[in-house]
Amino acid sequence: MSSYTQLVNTSHPLAPDYIPRDLVAVNIPFDAPLGCSKRMLRRQAAEAAEELFDRSLSMNLSLFGISGYRSYKRQIQLNTGSPYVAPPGASEHQTGLALDVSCPAVSLELIEDFANTAEGQFLRDYAPLYGFILRYPKGKEKITGYAWEPWHIRYVTKSLALYLSLTGMTLEEYHSI
Ligand code: DAL
Ligand code: ZN
Repeated sequence: MSSYTQLVNTSHPLAPDYIPRDLVAVNIPFDAPLGCSKRMLRRQAAEAAEELFDRSLSMNLSLFGISGYRSYKRQIQLNTGSPYVAPPGASEHQTGLALDVSCPAVSLELIEDFANTAEGQFLRDYAPLYGFILRYPKGKEKITGYAWEPWHIRYVTKSLALYLSLTGMTLEEYHSI
């Protein structure tokens, strides 16, 4: 099984047959049909996401999960050459540790405007307390290789998420130290 802090990108891809063995359905509001594999994350990431969403609910915010686990095959279908979509094997969604999140104020879309919503600001400020980082920050496009994605969070454990958020480092920078 891959580690929670593993770097996955086009230079560090996953094997086509890599499927995490501890995927579970995440118990949060989801814009995906019941039973859909998009609703799954690895157990520890799922529990952390549930705690993060509980916190947002207690602040009267309305976060929705949009897309969690994605298989290698599904990534082949999505790979349209868009700057937002990783090639097969290079997507963190295949790790079962990444989750795209949105809210009704932006019609549950994955768009930059999400960052201006109360939910988007909550995600930025609180995700690290629960072990998630915003994986593709603004201003780090050249390092991550992706456009700014204020909706994509990646579970890396609480200690690493806090370290990265305090230092402003991306996962790429951390792994090249
Ligand atoms: N949107 C991210 C880069 C992915 O497809 O994994
Ligand atoms: Zn994503």
